[in-house]
Amino acid sequence: MQGFALSSGIAVERAQGSVIEDVDGNRYVDLIGGIGVNSLGHCHPAYTKAMHEQLEKATVGSFTSAPRAELINEVAKVAPKGVDKVQLYSSGAEAVESAFRLAMNHTGHQEVVGFWGGFHGKTGGVLGLLGSDFKHHLGPFLPGQHLTPFADCYRCPLRLTYPDCGIACADYVRDVIRYQTAGEIAAIIVEPIQGTAGNIVPPAGFLRAIASIAKEHDALLFCDEMITGFGRTGLMWGAEHDGVIPDIMTVGKGMGGGFPIAAVISTETLTQKKPWSNPSASSSSYGGNPLASAAGLAALEIILKEDLVTNAERVGRVMLAQLVAMKEKHRAIGEVRGKGLLLGVELVKDRMSKEPLDKEVTRALYQECLRRGLIAMTYSPSIRINPPLIIREDQALAGLAILDEALTVVLRQYGLDR
Ligand SMILES: Cc1ncc(COP(=O)(O)O)c(C=O)c1O
Repeated sequence: MQGFALSSGIAVERAQGSVIEDVDGNRYVDLIGGIGVNSLGHCHPAYTKAMHEQLEKATVGSFTSAPRAELINEVAKVAPKGVDKVQLYSSGAEAVESAFRLAMNHTGHQEVVGFWGGFHGKTGGVLGLLGSDFKHHLGPFLPGQHLTPFADCYRCPLRLTYPDCGIACADYVRDVIRYQTAGEIAAIIVEPIQGTAGNIVPPAGFLRAIASIAKEHDALLFCDEMITGFGRTGLMWGAEHDGVIPDIMTVGKGMGGGFPIAAVISTETLTQKKPWSNPSASSSSYGGNPLASAAGLAALEIILKEDLVTNAERVGRVMLAQLVAMKEKHRAIGEVRGKGLLLGVELVKDRMSKEPLDKEVTRALYQECLRRGLIAMTYSPSIRINPPLIIREDQALAGLAILDEALTVVLRQYGLDR
């Protein structure tokens, strides 16, 4: 089980919209949203109807089907201009690994540059690009994978301050390529907003700078939009915030509204090149199976019909304003940030040192939130808030009110309210 699920002690009985009910009848506002998976809310009626209908028709197999063809067409319509060829998979890591093969296939290069704080899955081909200590004792990693500091301005890895820094961390990528690599970079992989690291929003211009550096080295810009894609950040794609069109994108999570589906999205030129484009060369057992396709199609139709991208932007803005107000009240809040419904809160012992709050305190905060009817990723000093994209403003604010109350109680308990 995921850590938050295990330590919650919750066994889910049913869930609807933005509310989860456990087997004991307790109800919780869901501000985790399956860590970015839950785009539609729980058991969206149009989604369950589409899945029921598909279950009656065809459930297994790698043949093409109407939902598969429609899904590929509909994703292509909302994809960035020219980056509209879609290959389906069943998990994020699987899609990311295939995208690396695609990049190598096109460039003839073998190396990849990623970022500190980055997360792209837990399979062997991506572990080396995990930018955290999670990968300790899991090595050795694939050769040719290199990491460079991300634009985490709250805790700048280069100890500089934005905007005076001139986004020096982007420049630093050039040095990493010059001094650490064989100079054969197939792709630079980047999350437009880093999810696992704490919903960290880089400053404007960062992604554009990375795109230029990729070009300078005949490498591809690979945006991993697993969390940021399909509207979560208030625009359809996270890279749009910086006006960037990547060469390759990987998507998943919210794409399936809960069903495991992921995809590589790229250009005609890249995806038609052999051997990646050969039959069976980049397929998988479950990629694009009828149920997954029906789920992806229903999810995208609902996202568009209910304009959930705008809802994410609007409710996200209200939530961010509320978090800013909470920062005024609780000195343990060092920073709040986010775009759309991808929000982050840094809990610190001291605003000057920015030392993270002890895990003991945040674990207590998590339990206090649960007792009061809120599930959010408050067990870590980098709180991540990723509600379903359908969440209403009143529900979102009710969830934050619980967080506010729980913070008041727990910070007082640990003498951190003064
Ligand atoms: C940005 C990003 N890429 C890839 C993945 C891996 O996805 P999966 O868990 O479906 O393999 C994740 C998962 O959290 C992610 O956040």
